[in-house]
Amino acid sequence: MKKYTIVILGGTGDLAVEKLSPSINNIAEKKGIEILLVGIGRRIFSDNEYKAMLENSKFRFSKKVNVKYYQAGFDNKNSLKDLHVFLDKEEKGKSDGRIFYLATSHVFFKNILEQLSKCCFHKEGKINRIVIEKPFGEDLKSYNSLNRLIRKHFSEEQIYRVDHYLAKETIENILVLRMSNPFLERTWNSDFIEKINITVDEKKGIGRRIEYYDKTGAIRDMVQNHLLQILSFILMKPPKTTIPGDVHAEKAKAIKKVYFTGKAFLGQYEGYAEEARKTGNPNSRTETFAELTLKSNDKNWKGTTINLRTGKKLKKKEAKIEIIYKKEPCLLYCNIDTNPNKLVLNIQPEQDVELCINTKTPGSEFEITHESLAFSPTKKFDSDAPQNYELLLWECIKGNKTLFISDIELKEAWKTVDDIRHKIKNNKIITYKEGSEGPSA
Ligand code: BG6
Repeated sequence: MKKYTIVILGGTGDLAVEKLSPSINNIAEKKGIEILLVGIGRRIFSDNEYKAMLENSKFRFSKKVNVKYYQAGFDNKNSLKDLHVFLDKEEKGKSDGRIFYLATSHVFFKNILEQLSKCCFHKEGKINRIVIEKPFGEDLKSYNSLNRLIRKHFSEEQIYRVDHYLAKETIENILVLRMSNPFLERTWNSDFIEKINITVDEKKGIGRRIEYYDKTGAIRDMVQNHLLQILSFILMKPPKTTIPGDVHAEKAKAIKKVYFTGKAFLGQYEGYAEEARKTGNPNSRTETFAELTLKSNDKNWKGTTINLRTGKKLKKKEAKIEIIYKKEPCLLYCNIDTNPNKLVLNIQPEQDVELCINTKTPGSEFEITHESLAFSPTKKFDSDAPQNYELLLWECIKGNKTLFISDIELKEAWKTVDDIRHKIKNNKIITYKEGSEGPSA
């Protein structure tokens, strides 16, 4: 049986507790592998106390997961110096690889990476991988210096940059739908498509993350990563193969060709200023809502309008992609009111695929009704689809980087976002009510 070590730096944080531990447990159970889970944090815990904290009421660890705790702060340059002794002792020479998951604030990355590279990698022949989460810097410049730091210690093959949206079923399905349905791929361009809308609305607010969020805002928190990643799957040319390098290269080219038209709605929910007051910024101009209109220079997409929309404390949690086709000049029934065809890929809470068409109302004299051909892949197959982090961790263990973001994509995404932020810096921030449709409504 294969045995892997997963070290979570930031082992007592929300990500470790809510997402990573249950995912690790599911992987061990479903895939039949043993995992040594080592949580590292500043607080003092025995192994049993740490395990009990992770287990809470939601799940119990399987026997295949051995949970250990290593106490260390990350602001100290020597805090991890004995970690390798600890890992060697716990692994007892039986580990097929080590994965280090950086679930800490990026301000600690330098200390952590330097120490890991000095002492904690397995010897040759075994895997050593590093997983990092956003924020990947705050602009192109800071991303580049973060990347130089990581690359100083790890090769590109060893770095897994997470965007958890890439593990969502609908996003994984985009290329499959396009490439396995010629009627879609043949019409997948601006000759046929008028508009692409990508919406990621959230009902919840900032929660306990005001410190981070107030310095970040919706454009950097959501657009720079999740929304541009979704867009890249829509706009990209078919990759030569499904190997990660080919997929990443085409996605990066697609992002590179996208540009901001200058049209934007920015909003802040009522009451946000009170939250920001806690960080000493009661006049905060941080946007909690953004709707941006983009276009692409690619000859396949000239003229198609791209709307990206995301916000917090809106009416409902809903994420979807709408591909709106052109209303062709009438072909035959010119006096009849048809709707443009529309393909809707729902991301969450449902994952339905809908194709909106026009059809004759039965019994009528050529009255048109607008109907949708809908299909819910997850309901139909009642699949035990892995949660986002479970899938990502498993792909990382297998060494498949397709669902992770590459350096080239991040660079292009930052260029686009830096340009947007520069152009909107004096835009009005419109206040909107909690539970509303947002300021652009
Ligand atoms: C995170 C953002 O990346 O994605 C959060 O930092 C946001 O602000 C979250 O709430 C949304 O993820 P999901 O999977 O709940 O749509």
